[in-house]
Amino acid sequence: PLVTTGELVTRAAADRTAVASFNVITLEHVEAVVAGAESVHAPVVLQVSENAVRFRHGRLLPLARAAVAAAEQAAVPVALHLDHVRSDTLLRQAPDAGFSSVMYDAARLPYEENLAATRTAVDWAHAQGLWIEAELGEIGGKDGRPGLDAHAPGARTDPDEARAFVTDSGVDALAVAIGSSHAMTTRTARLDHALLKRLSSTLDVPLVLHGSSGVPDDELAAAVAGGITKVNIGTALNIAMTGAIREFLVARPEAVDPRQYLTTGRQDMARTVAQLIRVLDRTPA
Ligand code: G3H
Ligand code: ZN
Repeated sequence: PLVTTGELVTRAAADRTAVASFNVITLEHVEAVVAGAESVHAPVVLQVSENAVRFRHGRLLPLARAAVAAAEQAAVPVALHLDHVRSDTLLRQAPDAGFSSVMYDAARLPYEENLAATRTAVDWAHAQGLWIEAELGEIGGKDGRPGLDAHAPGARTDPDEARAFVTDSGVDALAVAIGSSHAMTTRTARLDHALLKRLSSTLDVPLVLHGSSGVPDDELAAAVAGGITKVNIGTALNIAMTGAIREFLVARPEAVDPRQYLTTGRQDMARTVAQLIRVLDRTPA
């Protein structure tokens, strides 16, 4: 059934586990995430990013409606989340398109501008009944250094700034920079667990890990044990899908029916989904 992200995150926090949140680009991604979650009897979040909407000719609804239908028919709870939103136009489409949550991404802006933009987004989102996540990376210009993108490999979230940001913006969850970075194709990221510990003891909102595809299993499990409650995964699915399709087409150069190679791509994505959910669930009580 279709449920809200807020309830899945709240439940994960109570269970000291994390809800896996997968970025979907195609209908095959949607079906694979649902099938993978069903195979391990776990709830899951389907996320559509602003970049994915751009790929879909700027239209949210075709993929969103497919995701809503897939969630409604799923044997496990499934929520819809609009991810990395910078455009206000897209943000405002979230409730009607079936999304119960959004991630508002103003992390590239200087602190005060990020805060002001996020606060405006939070006020609007809460008036709509939406759960809203934002992000705080490293503040630009400190000590004469240029700022880092929140998910640049060297970026780190400062706990005191994060506390002020959460209080002043009213966000429901915070994406933190603790060593992961987006779109890694090797699982070689090392997380700053001491920083995560400080962040989770300083902040009273759920913490979100982005760029989780590059984080090895043991580091992911440790991050969940250390207080990460939502784990965002995108690239791992694309590696699985593309690898399976490439292998199929190399072995069968005469193949022309997309159902053949999309079937293998979808299966490998579903397997990846199930494996990663198991890693997140393996948290010590
Ligand atoms: O918000 C999406 C995630 O941060 C995905 O990152 O593609 O590196 O796993 P990833
Ligand atoms: Zn992200």
